[in-house]
Amino acid sequence: MASIPADDRVPDMGKRELMNLLLLGALSLPSAGMLLPYASFFVPPGSGGSGGGTIAKDALGNDVVADVWLKNHGPGDRTLTQGLKGDPTYLVVENDKTLATYGINAVCTHLGCVVPWNTAEKKFICPCHGSQYNNQGRVVRGPAPLSLALVHADVNVDDGKILFVPWVETDFRTGEAPWWA
Ligand code: FES
Repeated sequence: MASIPADDRVPDMGKRELMNLLLLGALSLPSAGMLLPYASFFVPPGSGGSGGGTIAKDALGNDVVADVWLKNHGPGDRTLTQGLKGDPTYLVVENDKTLATYGINAVCTHLGCVVPWNTAEKKFICPCHGSQYNNQGRVVRGPAPLSLALVHADVNVDDGKILFVPWVETDFRTGEAPWWA
C-alpha cells in the first residue's frame, strides 16, 4: 500500500488556523442573529419604558384612555378590549369607579370560546358548554378546568392609555402559579 506523504495528511498550521477562523465567523454571525430575538424575549416586558406590553384597543380599534373609559363605563363594568396578541380581554371597573390593575382574558379554558360577561348573574358564563367564572374570572363551574388568564392593566403615565403587560406572578385568585405563563 502506498503511504501518503505527511504533508498531504496534515495541512500546515497557518492554513488550519485560517480555516478555523473562517468557520467560526460563518457559525457565529448567523447564531448571533438568531440569538437576538431570544435575548430580547428574556427582557421583562414593561421594564424598559415604551418597550413592553400592548396598548388596549376598544371595539373600534382606538387606543383606550383610562379617563375617557371611566367616563363611559360605570362601577362593576366588564367590557371587552383587544389585548396581548389580539386576545379579547376584559377591562374591569371596580365598585369604587377605578380601573382594576388586572384585565381578564376572555378565552374559555375549556375549548376556547369567548366568554361573555353576564351582568345580571355577575359571572362570566360560557355559551359553548356552560362553564362559569366569577367576576374576577376564577372558574366556579366546569367543564372549564382553569380560571381565565390574567394580564396587568397599567395606566401609562405619559398619555393615560391602558397598557396590558403579561401576568407572570402568582394568580391572586387561586394563590397558585399562573398556568398561562
Ligand atoms: Fe367554554 Fe366549553 S368552550 S365551556
